[in-house]
Amino acid sequence: MSDIVLRVEDVWKSFGDLQVLRGISFDVAESEVKVIFGPSGSGKSTLLRCINYLDPPDKGEIYLRGKRLGDPDTDINKIRSRIGFVFQHFNLFAHLKAIDNVAIGPEKVLGLSKEEARERAMRALKHVKMDKWADHYPAQLSGGQQQRVGIARALAMETDVILFDEPTSALDPELIGEVLQTMLDIAKEGTTMVVVTHEMGFARSVADEMIFIDGGVIVERGTPHHFFTSPESERVQQFLHKLDELYGQTRDERRTIAERDQE
Ligand SMILES: Nc1ncnc2c1ncn2[C@@H]1O[C@H](COP(=O)(O)OP(=O)(O)OP(=O)(O)O)[C@@H](O)[C@H]1O
Ligand SMILES: [Mg+2]
Repeated sequence: MSDIVLRVEDVWKSFGDLQVLRGISFDVAESEVKVIFGPSGSGKSTLLRCINYLDPPDKGEIYLRGKRLGDPDTDINKIRSRIGFVFQHFNLFAHLKAIDNVAIGPEKVLGLSKEEARERAMRALKHVKMDKWADHYPAQLSGGQQQRVGIARALAMETDVILFDEPTSALDPELIGEVLQTMLDIAKEGTTMVVVTHEMGFARSVADEMIFIDGGVIVERGTPHHFFTSPESERVQQFLHKLDELYGQTRDERRTIAERDQE
């Protein structure tokens, strides 16, 4: 189908004897937001790294707009430049100002002129409300601001999809909100996103589908409404309960949805 941006097809991955992914499949459509969640060690980061071929799958295929990444004819660096990645620990270049962190991709990877790249970077920084900080170095920015620069860096590449690997989990609680707001904004603007996160409020607001992974397999998938009102598997129920205890938010989400259902 033409509106499928990303296809993940029966992906398997192991490290030595450790089987981490055991047959993961899903499609991501244009403008779709897919939320992936599950216990630590379940293979979420590995899955994202397989999707952009940082760690090629042992078996299975990844397609970006119908182009098979594993095809010998595929220029993997070129196709990877169409897949954005936002990391848990920001991964900004410490010696570059915010604007240069954002401009370096468009200039070095996409081949834009220095001027064009800086213009594009400035637009992306404005988008995440960081334009006033363009000339600051990462060390001069809060974690939340650094992560917004990380998001601007992905936006400036104008990729087909952006992958997020727990983008708020390294942040102090008071900084999480500004990053989630930025992610909500770009999701609502139609950015195609695959987001590994345990922020259930974010999932409820914008996820088209949630996928629960445990032991390298998809245990359950469905809409936020499904997960917050009638999750089927015991593992999912236990996990949501644990999140609930940790963050105290999923209970509120469920109540909100249950109340809304009664209206
Ligand atoms: N490069 C690697 N070499 C060996 N083992 C690895 C490698 N990368 C990941 N693993 C192992 O694969 C398993 C899945 O790791 P992964 O990082 O994908 O989990 P995760 O779901 O992202 O966990 P978390 O929620 O803690 O981030 C873990 O047992 C991890 O130790
Ligand atoms: Mg991880």
